[in-house]
Amino acid sequence: MRVLRSRLGGLAFGGDYNPEQWDAATRAEDLRLMADAKVNMVNLGVFAWARVEPARDAYDFTFFDEVMDGLAAHGVTADLATMTASPPPWLGHEHPEILPVTADGTVLSPGGRQHFCPSSPVYRDRAARLVEALATHYRDHPALGLWHIGNEYGIHVAECFCDVSAADFRRWLHERYAGDIDALNAAWSTDFWSQRYAAFDQVLPPRAAPTYPNPSQQLDFKRFSSEALRACFEVERDVLRRVTPDVPVTTNFLAGHKTVDVYDWAPHMDAVAFDSYPDPHEKHAHIGAALSYDALRGAVDGAPWLLTEQAPSAVNWRSRNGGKAPGQMRLWSWQAVAHGADAVMYFQWRQSRGGAEKFHSGMVPHGGADTRVHREVRALGRELAAVPELAGTHTRNEVAVLFDWNSWWALELDSHPSEGVRCIEQVLDYYGALFEAGVGIDVVHPSADLSGYKLVVLPGLYLLSEEHAGRVVDFVAAGGHLVVSFFTGIVDEHDRVHLGGYPAPLGKALGLHVEEFWPTAEGESVALRAADGEPLAGDGSLWREDVVLAGARPELLFAGPDWEGRPAATVHTFGGGTARYVATRPHPADLGALVARAVAESGAAPVLPGLPAGVEAALRRGDGYDVLVLLNHGDTAHDVDLPEPRADLLAADRPEVRRVALEPRGVAVLGSPHLGGPRPDDAAPAARD
Ligand code: GAL
Repeated sequence: MRVLRSRLGGLAFGGDYNPEQWDAATRAEDLRLMADAKVNMVNLGVFAWARVEPARDAYDFTFFDEVMDGLAAHGVTADLATMTASPPPWLGHEHPEILPVTADGTVLSPGGRQHFCPSSPVYRDRAARLVEALATHYRDHPALGLWHIGNEYGIHVAECFCDVSAADFRRWLHERYAGDIDALNAAWSTDFWSQRYAAFDQVLPPRAAPTYPNPSQQLDFKRFSSEALRACFEVERDVLRRVTPDVPVTTNFLAGHKTVDVYDWAPHMDAVAFDSYPDPHEKHAHIGAALSYDALRGAVDGAPWLLTEQAPSAVNWRSRNGGKAPGQMRLWSWQAVAHGADAVMYFQWRQSRGGAEKFHSGMVPHGGADTRVHREVRALGRELAAVPELAGTHTRNEVAVLFDWNSWWALELDSHPSEGVRCIEQVLDYYGALFEAGVGIDVVHPSADLSGYKLVVLPGLYLLSEEHAGRVVDFVAAGGHLVVSFFTGIVDEHDRVHLGGYPAPLGKALGLHVEEFWPTAEGESVALRAADGEPLAGDGSLWREDVVLAGARPELLFAGPDWEGRPAATVHTFGGGTARYVATRPHPADLGALVARAVAESGAAPVLPGLPAGVEAALRRGDGYDVLVLLNHGDTAHDVDLPEPRADLLAADRPEVRRVALEPRGVAVLGSPHLGGPRPDDAAPAARD
């Protein structure tokens, strides 16, 4: 995001700005408060379609002209929305055929938002016309810095099962299988249950059926649906690239959301943006947040991304909406920056007075600017403005976790050995263990270049093509270290089992095969013992399987009747590398020890050795310098010694320090020593107060 960096002079700070909800006096106060909080970018007008096109083709930008002028006058850049996320009432009224339909035939009405069928030519056409008018109108406006296309595609309506979607699905399949219906029949295993198709026009979306719809059809429909939404994005993007070729485009994904394949979308965007809502009620929410940030950064090869939304405090959409404790919003904002964010933004600037989100916190709460939340927002804005060098820096780590939306989709289809096996839970088991080991982690697609990594982990990567599995095997043969968990590498890209003993394409690297899965009953534990006789922290859970060794050596064994002495975790030397396999879900402490052993053997170094529990370290690299961020997620204060002196970038005059005091929820931002001393004026964002 070079364009944005040079425009802003540093990190972006701001939030969704919905001025159409407020009167002129409030809008004038907004600009004053934004300047005071060092807001330099807002996501403007995300839900303003009905305001700028109140009737078909009757565009009226007067209101936003004044807003854009005000922003420009206060040095605030607009990440201007294309406003297409919520079609206006007249569109649904005139064209009810744009409304989405669920698998059981229910038509979703207007009245909420995102009520459009992704394949609808009418919706796409009306969206493109609006974008053309908007881009033409604002192309030379000084506030325009970035385009925000749509909003969180697929969060409410990820799939539509209407007849228009059905026809589009058939077109997509025709292309995917090169017009060969027998290629589709083979991929979908249609000889099962008499599903063989004679022609593409017989195929339907996986609508509600008497029993399990064909799993390969379900998987292809998820791929198609993600691509149908991407096509909506691309229709708008193409207009923008033609009318405003110098203005980058983005759209915001929702963290931890299953429906849209971020790795497939990212190459089609100029910048990737992310909305993150960790739950303050969840003790380890910061680990899940870190996973989602690393997974997003994996879509852009370690480059920066934009945190377009987070909550200033509570959200309104959980069953119990906990607020962020003092300092927590600052800590979690810096965590996003530590993991590669070049923007810290919120939903939303001013807390709404009415509407469904009136109890969602805002940067300016209902109580006004003299509130704890606003004071914390303002302080953070000033702090972020003091470290412009962070913008544009990159991240590259020695440990990779492989992640794939296709596998997530396939893993969580119906009719599997255990509904208890959930993708993100499996990934978090291993990601969490690596996080606790203190190493930096890249989360990347299985097609990524693995050669720079020391350790690669495949947690519950159920769907793995022969080709991608081959790359993993080559990585181990060439000296890499590998950890694979159960129910990984089970099926190919069409959800057909790799034959020859699970996980067949990884078998030679792992030195074993699995004959049979034996998932546990709900709540049942799995007795385990260590092969070397050392005591374990506890029982495992969820899964057992019958592992047949072919060169691997057990590290953990199942215990108890029927299972006594059978391998539960193994290690195998293969070529120049080592491959571990884990056939159950061990107690977190035992999994932690196993993963820590793999990390140590791989030679991957922690970001900062000897950190106290609860303190996270992450490193971003710039041209000739780096920035280390320390985050205390725990309840105890710690002094952290640095192996070499660093410039304390949050302190006035940036002194050189060797020891850092971290309060609970404390943050330290430490640069290479030459970044010390007074900050050069020309690196600072324009002063606005
Ligand atoms: C996001 C969405 C915003 C707002 C926010 C509330 O998912 O993009 O428009 O609804 O959630 O948390």
